[in-house]
Amino acid sequence: MSEIVYLNGEFIPLADAKVSVLDRGFIFGDGVYEVIPVYSRRPFRLQEHLARFRRSHDAIRLTYPMSDAEWAKLVEDLVARNAGEDQSIYIQVTRGVAKRDHPFPKDTKPTVFAMSNPLVTPSREAVEKGAHAITTIDYRWLKCDVKSTSLLGNCLLRQVAADAGALEVVMFRDGFLTEGSASNVFVVKNGVILAPPKNNLVLPGITYDVVLELAQKHGLPHEVRPVSEAEVRAADEIWVTSSTKEVLAVTTLDERAVGGGTPGAVFKQMHKLYQDFKRDVMRAAA
Ligand code: PDD
Repeated sequence: MSEIVYLNGEFIPLADAKVSVLDRGFIFGDGVYEVIPVYSRRPFRLQEHLARFRRSHDAIRLTYPMSDAEWAKLVEDLVARNAGEDQSIYIQVTRGVAKRDHPFPKDTKPTVFAMSNPLVTPSREAVEKGAHAITTIDYRWLKCDVKSTSLLGNCLLRQVAADAGALEVVMFRDGFLTEGSASNVFVVKNGVILAPPKNNLVLPGITYDVVLELAQKHGLPHEVRPVSEAEVRAADEIWVTSSTKEVLAVTTLDERAVGGGTPGAVFKQMHKLYQDFKRDVMRAAA
């Protein structure tokens, strides 16, 4: 099956999907996006992803171009037209095509694009060994809660990790943990899971919510509160979470072992809860 994407009302082969060079997404990174995991052809937490997508539109004063029901139909059609039981659906809306000028153009139609990629989750080896991460200063802007296509800060920081042979960066702003370049970060100290609160400095992750819900449901001690850099460096465990990484242990930070240097006991519990949840709820959810 050739890869089919959605562009401005049409389902077309990827090779035929073209956007003007004057698109504000291309010129200014003026757009917002979502990444929705699909398990057994069922989008996971679609309503939550769409609610976050709508908030991102509102935050950048972009008209939400279609109803949630229309988005749901689009996602359903795109999943049906692409191969793979598990997919990662990417949807993006930009402010559209206009002569280059910084203020918003008037009456411009947003550009709506969506594609499907295979959902690649961490290998068994990655789960069992854990990942390397390095720390950086979080120098991104002050609207990190907006899922914007302007990802230059995230890309620069992620490349710092890649250059060091690491999977992710763990970022600090003003001495406190924020998140990774494309994931949320949790730490565990003395058996307690610590999560930085949702605010303008982090993306409100859908996986972050799932992890906290699982902790709550299964009685794992957890606290949502600011986590200092010192606490991260002294943590027994560090995890990164996202729709594609799921829950993954960080076992070395700046080339120093985290805890015992292998995924910790609380991670193993959470990973199992997440996998059970995936099998019993995500694959069965409407
Ligand atoms: N990124 N923080 C940032 C900066 C992210 O980009 C992401 C996700 C997350 C985790 O959010 P969620 O649990 O909803 O996936 C946190 C996606 C996967 C991406 O940009 O590809």
